[in-house]
Amino acid sequence: MFKWVDFKTDFKCWAPVWCLVFASTCAGAQAEAKKTYPGVGRPATTSEIAAWDIDVRPDFKGLPAGRGTVQKGMEIWDAQCAGCHGTFGESNEVFTPIVGGTTEKDMQTGRVASLIDQKTPQRSTLMKVATISTLWDYIYRAMPWYAPRSLSVDDTYSVLSYVLYLGEIIPEDFVLSQQTMAQVQARMPNRNGMTQQHGLGKVDGQPDVKAVPCMQACRPFVQIGSVLPEHARNAHNNLALQNRPYGPFLGIDTTIPRQK
Ligand code: HEC
Repeated sequence: MFKWVDFKTDFKCWAPVWCLVFASTCAGAQAEAKKTYPGVGRPATTSEIAAWDIDVRPDFKGLPAGRGTVQKGMEIWDAQCAGCHGTFGESNEVFTPIVGGTTEKDMQTGRVASLIDQKTPQRSTLMKVATISTLWDYIYRAMPWYAPRSLSVDDTYSVLSYVLYLGEIIPEDFVLSQQTMAQVQARMPNRNGMTQQHGLGKVDGQPDVKAVPCMQACRPFVQIGSVLPEHARNAHNNLALQNRPYGPFLGIDTTIPRQK
């Protein structure tokens, strides 16, 4: 790595060749930084931006090249995921089930019937998620819970293909890759289920500012359906410090054991 910034004196290139090549970028960024906060910080490097810029969009922009198989995915799943999500992705212990509640007919219609008839007691990830890119992105950036960003690109393709196999969306011999993701998208059970009229954004074209808190005949308490295992509690550091310090949801102090 080049060391090209001197924090104490000024923004200054230390690697002359690098600066020669990127002379204009370097000078421009320096001038900008100097103007705004003199002597503070430095422009992000290309590799720093690349490490941060990992989002995968529904049109597959940002999806890295790679491939994965169901067989390899099963090995990863059993070793790194099943402990929390269950052998078949069915566990409701740590988080709501990943797999379940979808049918072959849903894959044809693109709308999960059990979400509409409300007969299924629990909503699984495959019932809800509309875009396969979201699953790829989320697994790559956040799972396994205790070691986010530890899966390689190919491992992510593999473990995702195993989840899709468990959901009977793809057959056992399917090879999931940058090229075949679109085929899977065309079979996602709830691909036509995305709505924007859910009260979080706009209602009738207007911002939703009319939510009314429940003042009478409200639910007396919320039944907690799943909890993190004790050893994974503080895996993402103290959640209390990562939430805003006001409002109803303050975030739990995860450095102390769960209050029974
Ligand atoms: C230590 C427990 C743990 C392990 C191990 C784990 N997960 Fe998770 N997983 C969670 C928790 C907790 C959430 C919910 C996180 C949240 O909503 O902030 C989650 C969420 C998810 C979701 C999103 C589900 C949804 O509907 O939002 C997916 C997909 C997922 N995990 C896949 C995996 C895969 C693949 C692995 C293995 C590589 C894995 N998980 C390993 C605990 C775990």
